[in-house]
Amino acid sequence: MTDVLVVGGGGREHALVWKLRASPRVGRILCAPGNAGIAQDAECVAVAADDVQGLVELAQREKVDLTVVGPEAPLTAGLVDELERRGLRAFGPNRAGAELEASKAFTKDLLDEAGVSTAAYGTFDDANAAHAYLDKVGAPIVVKADGLAAGKGVTVAETIDEARAAIDSIMRDRVFGTAGARVVLEEKLGGEEASFIALTDGKTVLPLATSQDHKRIGEGDTGPNTGGMGAYSPAPVVTHEMFDHVTKNVMDPVVATLRKRGITFKGVLYAGLMIEDGKIGVLEFNVRFGDPECQPLLMRLRTDLLDLIDAVVDERLHEIELDWDSRAAACVVIAAPGYPATPDKGATIRGLEDAATVVDSYIFHAGTSRGDNAQIVTNGGRVLGVTSLGDTIASAVARAYEATAKIDFPGMQIRRDIGRRAIARGA
Ligand code: AMP
Ligand code: GLY
Repeated sequence: MTDVLVVGGGGREHALVWKLRASPRVGRILCAPGNAGIAQDAECVAVAADDVQGLVELAQREKVDLTVVGPEAPLTAGLVDELERRGLRAFGPNRAGAELEASKAFTKDLLDEAGVSTAAYGTFDDANAAHAYLDKVGAPIVVKADGLAAGKGVTVAETIDEARAAIDSIMRDRVFGTAGARVVLEEKLGGEEASFIALTDGKTVLPLATSQDHKRIGEGDTGPNTGGMGAYSPAPVVTHEMFDHVTKNVMDPVVATLRKRGITFKGVLYAGLMIEDGKIGVLEFNVRFGDPECQPLLMRLRTDLLDLIDAVVDERLHEIELDWDSRAAACVVIAAPGYPATPDKGATIRGLEDAATVVDSYIFHAGTSRGDNAQIVTNGGRVLGVTSLGDTIASAVARAYEATAKIDFPGMQIRRDIGRRAIARGA
């Protein structure tokens, strides 16, 4: 039996724990720090997801056979390097590989070397130089903090004034701290976004089923960016042709170029795509599962997750063939009032047991914890991810809303249009 430590405490990690629990080869599951929902499927330990030292000690003390890293912060901080140095097995890229997410400038440079075309851009470590570039290229333009900013470091500026304000808040006011030491100004791409998520062992790239999330807080894709207010799989905007094209012309060259640079990337490679008139632009890379894309993907995955992870870690991913539920899956995120800026915490969540009775559905917890009277309370921006299967995207979404309707806490935010683009395509 394999004892596993899952690092993280969001909806993605709940889905990972839930899917690992279904494996006959998995023994104990520990999760650090976990949440109130994860605690039903795993032993939660109060070590923060970015506490590299604490996590290494935990893995050693509990003699786990495998550590599965959910979020980007510990990957960027070198958790996998530290575990491997002690002879411990880990799923996720090392610090050098995690640069793909930690630095947009690194990624742009790597994509150039790999021959993958991206939007025109400039990188600046001086605000005056950024403003001067802006004078030259004008608006609309996308302003990005170079480093990690929890999905909030990007402003799609329609006017020069908006772009100037974004540059100044990133570089002069440092609203994202050191992530704003450098700024990337990038041509705005139009079209529809999709998430292209693959496993790789550093040699073989094994793409997962297609998926799409909803980044903006408001219906009709309006308002500020969030971590994601919902997701579904498959994403009909990604045709078979595009799927093969992205695998061959984006993912394979990126993994090969990393290898040329001496980086064996093992884990999840996630390209954010923009698709317009059949043309595909690459917006960004992440080095972990998308959250919430992970929830519908794992609900559809039939292959044993531990088998997959073992194949990545042991560099024999070429042996694996994936098996998917042919049905669609959709996740509706329930967020706290104030999200994404300043979410309220501590509200009692009602109706969870009732919601759990909806068939082919699972309520993944994200920002939840136990209150003083053992009740489940809100403890973060994104609180729950209600995820359902259905014969079509429309029916999966309808089922997720049916379960969502049974859940209640004051001020909860839900987008009512999850899956709208797919449903408009008849999916
Ligand atoms: P990123 O962190 O680079 O993925 O950016 C977050 C979000 O900003 C993306 O999911 C897009 O919605 C938007 N975005 C980023 N880059 C661009 C771009 N070049 N053109 C249009 N929208 C973009
Ligand atoms: N859902 C987008 C992300 O995980 O980055």
